Amino acid sequence: MSPSNVLGKGRTALVTGASRGIGPLIARQIAREGGHVVLTGRSAADLQTVASDLAAAGADVSFMPVDLTKPGAAETLVATIERRRGGIDLLVNNAGGDPLREFHTMTFEENLRTLQLNLIAPLALSHAVLPAMMRRGRGHIVNISAMAGRASFPYTEAYAAAKDGLIGFTRVLRADYHARGVSASVLILGAIRDAGQGQRMLDESGMKASGFMALAESVARAVVKAVNKDRAELIILPGPGRLIRAIMDYFPGLGPQVNRAAGATTTLQKIIEQREAKADAAA
Ligand SMILES: NC(=O)c1ccc[n+]([C@@H]2O[C@H](COP(=O)([O-])OP(=O)(O)OC[C@H]3O[C@@H](n4cnc5c(N)ncnc54)[C@H](OP(=O)(O)O)[C@@H]3O)[C@@H](O)[C@H]2O)c1
Repeated sequence: MSPSNVLGKGRTALVTGASRGIGPLIARQIAREGGHVVLTGRSAADLQTVASDLAAAGADVSFMPVDLTKPGAAETLVATIERRRGGIDLLVNNAGGDPLREFHTMTFEENLRTLQLNLIAPLALSHAVLPAMMRRGRGHIVNISAMAGRASFPYTEAYAAAKDGLIGFTRVLRADYHARGVSASVLILGAIRDAGQGQRMLDESGMKASGFMALAESVARAVVKAVNKDRAELIILPGPGRLIRAIMDYFPGLGPQVNRAAGATTTLQKIIEQREAKADAAA
């Protein structure tokens, strides 16, 4: 059982974005601690596959398909799980992503959808789980953020705004509710390989993973570490993550230079052009 008492037998975790990418690895790692894990995402078929795989490995899991950008979705999801399971002890706000398109070429509504998925949905879910967590005197919320804003990662304006927002949200949430038994942690991810959106981009561009990318499995382990050790922030980068982040903040011009030197800007531009050409051909 973790010091914050939210992992293990008799406890329930909700993991968003658990249908593909890094989410299934997070769910598996939490399930290993014991307790029940509820998986969510939009695709019922993918959730079913992940749930079957985890159950075959001995995990106690269920799933609920939900589109978290729909109004009221977070509240309904939480109320349903609380009714069925008696409460949610751990919420992992992992669902997220970026459409990888230039800011000005997307409609403003498309940019708002990125904010909705990456920032508003985690806030709505946290808002919905808090009352029961406080009543029971235990709970932990883990938010999955990104280095995008700190490192000026190209073409991620709305995504970077959302992920930086999530860092501020987590800090204040943690400060306000810790004494009432509810903790919060944020994981700030650099580029991740072996699963998820970063790996898909590598596959699409035919590039190999660089030494700057951390393993998806390390994110899953960090979620459990954040809960068990009650850590406020963990940076998931190969090497001295906290130092790299501090340097990026101290020298805001460094991120764009590194992105250009590492070829990220050109590669992403190429992927955008390829996708647009494909979409034009299909239209
Ligand atoms: N991979 C990286 O390099 C990297 C780097 C930094 C941060 N991150 C962050 O890590 C988290 C996981 O990323 P990932 O790479 O695993 O992404 P991914 O492979 O694209 O998976 C995204 C997950 O979010 C779910 N999702 C997307 N839209 C949704 C919606 N409207 N409602 C409910 N669920 C939705 C997806 O399921 P459905 O499609 O079934 O809905 C899927 O399970 C994200 O928050 C991401 O921003 C990733």
